[in-house]
This record gives sequence, C-alpha cells and structure tokens, in this order.
Amino acid sequence: MNLQPVPFLEVERISKRFPGVKALSEVSLAVGVGESIAVIGENGAGKSTLMKILAGIQQPDSGTIRIDGKPVEIRGVPAAQRLGIALIHQELNLCDNLSIGANIFLGREPRQFGWISQSEINAQSRKYLEQVGLDVDPRTLLAELSIGQQQLVEIAKALSCNARLLIMDEPTSSLSAREVERLFSVIQSLRESGVSIVYISHRLSEVHQVCDRVVALRDGQNSGGLSREEITHDNMVRLMVGRDLDQFYARQSLTPGDVVLAAKGLRTRDNPTHAINFQLRSGEIVGLAGLVGAGRTELLEALFGVQPAVAGTIEVAGRTASIRSARDAIAHEIFLVPEDRKLQGLVLPMDVGQNTSLPGLHRLSYFSWIDSRSEQKLADDMVKRMRVKTPSTRQIIQYLSGGNQQKVVIAKWLAMNPKVLLLDEPTRGIDVGAKHEIYELMEELARRGVAILFVSSEMEEVLGMADRVLVMHEGALSGELTRAQLSEEAVMTLATGQQMKTI
Ligand SMILES: Nc1ncnc2c1ncn2[C@@H]1O[C@H](COP(=O)(O)OP(=O)(O)OP(=O)(O)O)[C@@H](O)[C@H]1O
Ligand SMILES: [Mg+2]
Repeated sequence: MNLQPVPFLEVERISKRFPGVKALSEVSLAVGVGESIAVIGENGAGKSTLMKILAGIQQPDSGTIRIDGKPVEIRGVPAAQRLGIALIHQELNLCDNLSIGANIFLGREPRQFGWISQSEINAQSRKYLEQVGLDVDPRTLLAELSIGQQQLVEIAKALSCNARLLIMDEPTSSLSAREVERLFSVIQSLRESGVSIVYISHRLSEVHQVCDRVVALRDGQNSGGLSREEITHDNMVRLMVGRDLDQFYARQSLTPGDVVLAAKGLRTRDNPTHAINFQLRSGEIVGLAGLVGAGRTELLEALFGVQPAVAGTIEVAGRTASIRSARDAIAHEIFLVPEDRKLQGLVLPMDVGQNTSLPGLHRLSYFSWIDSRSEQKLADDMVKRMRVKTPSTRQIIQYLSGGNQQKVVIAKWLAMNPKVLLLDEPTRGIDVGAKHEIYELMEELARRGVAILFVSSEMEEVLGMADRVLVMHEGALSGELTRAQLSEEAVMTLATGQQMKTI
C-alpha cells in the first residue's frame, strides 16, 4: 500500500507519566490512509496507554497528534469520534441486554419529531452489519451473539461513526479460528475503502497476516520498526525483548507418578449428555484442546466446583471427593487459574502484594494477624520471578497493564503449592518473554509432582508443552493423544469431531 503524501495520523513525541511509571516517553508513529500497522511490545510496554490517548480516554503530558497534517487535541471520547478514531477494547464495551441496533446507536439514536426512530435504527444498523458481514437481525439481543459476533457489532458501531482509523487492542484473544478469519476479511475490506488500522496482538503470527508494517515499543519508547518484508517472528521478538530468545519449549520426558485426579462419568451442567472420563497423574502436564465452545472451561469449572458436576464422581488420590464449591476443591489442593482473570482472579482495588498472597493467607497468618513481612517477601519473590512490571508490590492492581495483571493471578496460585493445577488459557495476553517464564514454572511444578491440566487455544503451546492431550468436541471428550501421536492434524481432527484414521 502506497503512503499518501500526508499520513492520516501522525503521533509525535508523546509522553505520559503515571505515579511511579513513565508509561510513554517521546513515542512517535504515523499511519497512512488505508494502511494497517501493528504496535507490538512486551506487557507494560505502553501500547494500550498510547491507544487510550488516541481514543481520548487519557490525556498525554506532552507531544503532538496530527490528523490529515493538522495538529489536534483529543480531549474526550466524543472528540476522538468526531476525528474518526474508534478504539475496540479487548473487553467489549457493549450492553448485553440491549438489541444490536440499540447498541450501535446508543446515545446517538436517530430521531423523528423528537422520538427515537426504531425503524431508522434498524434500517441503518442493517447497512452497517452487512458491511461487516454479519447476517443477523438488528433487533436480536446482544447476549445471543458469540464474542466474535459482538466484536463485529463493535466494528459496525465504529463504521456508523464514520471511523477512519480503527484501533484494535488484542481483538482475537477470545475468538474461534473461523471468527478470526472473518475478522481479518472485514479488516481487509475496510482497508480497501480507506480505513486505517492499528492492530495490537501478542499473537505474532497474526501480525504478518494483517499488517503492512510493525512499530515496536520497549519500556515506553520506540524500539524500532519493520517493513512488510522484514516481519518475521524473530525480528519482532528482538525488537520487543531486546535480545534473542532461546528455544521455546523445554519439556523433558518423564515418568508420571500415581493417579491424583480421576473423573468418572462426570457430567457438566452445560453439557450433561456426555459423560467424561479421564485421569491425571502426578508430575504430568496434560493439554485440554478443542474449539471455542467445546466445553473445556466448563470441565475445569466442574473440577474446581464453581459449576459443580450434575453427575459422576471425582476421585482425588484414589478417594471419592465431594467437590461442590471452590472451597471444597481448595481443601483437596486443587486450584484453578480462570480464563477471565479480571473477573474471577483478582481483587482490583488491592495491591500486588495482597493479591499474590490472598489465597495463601492462612499460611502466613499467626493467630489470624496477617504477617505482612512474609507477605512482602512472597510478593517480592513472585514479582521478580514473573518479571511483573510494577513500580512496587504496593501498586494497586488495576493500574497494571493487562498482561501484568495476568502474571499476578498466576503467581498467586503458584504460591500455594497445589496438588492439581487447572490452568485456563494461561498465556492469553501474555508477551512472548513472559510465556517462557510461565512454561518454566509449569515444568518446575510438574517436576515437584503437581498434576497440571491446561486449556489452550494456541496449537503451538499444546504441541510444545503437553505430555498428553485430551481433545473435546461439542461437550464430549473426543479423544486422547499421547506425546508420540501428537500432531496439529491429529488435534484438529479430534477437535472437529472427525474419526481418527490412524489411531
Ligand atoms: N491508570 C494507570 N495508573 C498507573 N499506571 C498505569 C495506568 N495505566 C497504565 N499504567 C502503567 O503504564 C505502563 C504501560 O501500560 P500499558 O497498559 O500501556 O501496557 P501494554 O503495552 O498495553 O501492556 P499489555 O501487553 O500487558 O496489555 C505499565 O507499567 C502500567 O502499569
Ligand atoms: Mg494493553
């Protein structure tokens, strides 16, 4: 794509400081009309902060923003909208209990004689939904759509504001493979009509598919750029991390120990028609693969008691365990790191130290007083170990970047010495360097005899980390693959419900 003489957007030497953190220092970038750039960087590098500034959610301390060559000040979200800038957050900003049309026009409803015109909302919504390739009635409730479809509604909404720049902050982390493809083709057609794209993702393989150019940030500063031809995994890692990363997966073969967890005829609340049977042995790392919606999270939630199974038994170390709540599971030393860490994993207004030690408090307390010195030490160790980017362990958790919040949740459960660890998408939204840390921690725990069951939608991770893989399809366990049988093709075959030919 040829750059126009004047780029649509120019950001020049933008800086932004938060208490104790220089989030951005003198960052510059430009985006041409119809151009698609990726902004990459480790957790806490400043990506989201820059985007929030462009979308009018936060104000820069210094620097210049130009649109069509003219300096602008973006004092709020409506101002950004008027300039044609739309930000699609990773956590979608829509109302579940309203219709699609109402969501698209929320606060800007077309009116006739002062009354909101429902027919106009529907007619216009149809037009925008068609543009994003979503074939649903605008009167449908948003709650009835999949996450991928809801994301397309967000894009339709952006189009209805005549967006000329669409910023997407980790758009694909909860989408199925098919929804990702759909999103990419919508992005392509938007670009053809002159919309510019800024794309943020920790899935580096996507960057190559979607973007013309890469801008990298490290510690809040520009660390370099890549042209289309230069976009490779290694080049991106070098710019983000500042060094080469060695071999990614280090899984060593091992002889698993005794069975620590067994599911017998387990039926989950959401998929009660299928009985699930499997075993986990001490020291094993087992992958749970399947397409989005296959029932993987439901299975973990049944094992952890937050959505107790409706039938069947769970045995822990050979004895039937009654697991009706998370408390029961924890009593049996079974822990879950949930997929939606913001909602379930953290206490946002508390600080990093308190969040790390929360579930382990009973171990640190002496006559029920919290021993703040041990809490401090535990938190310091974890922050160092996981390379959590925070000014101190006293920082309130909601001010950490998305990926760093996730590291804290994982740290919190690792501090507990579990017998069985259930991980739901443990590296979602986590940068490439910190992924290493998490894999190494999983290895270390397995060596200490912990049984790990992890859900992952990243094939590479499943193939690289698992000693054994259980595959789910539409609520049922459709098969099991040993390390020797493991291949991308074998996983996909089982995940899509086809019969295996060779095994
Ligand atoms: N409101 C805030 N108050 C204090 N610090 C903040 C605030 N928002 C962001 N920060 C800090 O600014 C830095 C940059 O955060 P930002 O969210 O921009 O990172 P990011 O590149 O988007 O990371 P991730 O990949 O984890 O999403 C981090 O150190 C973060 O803790
Ligand atoms: Mg971010």
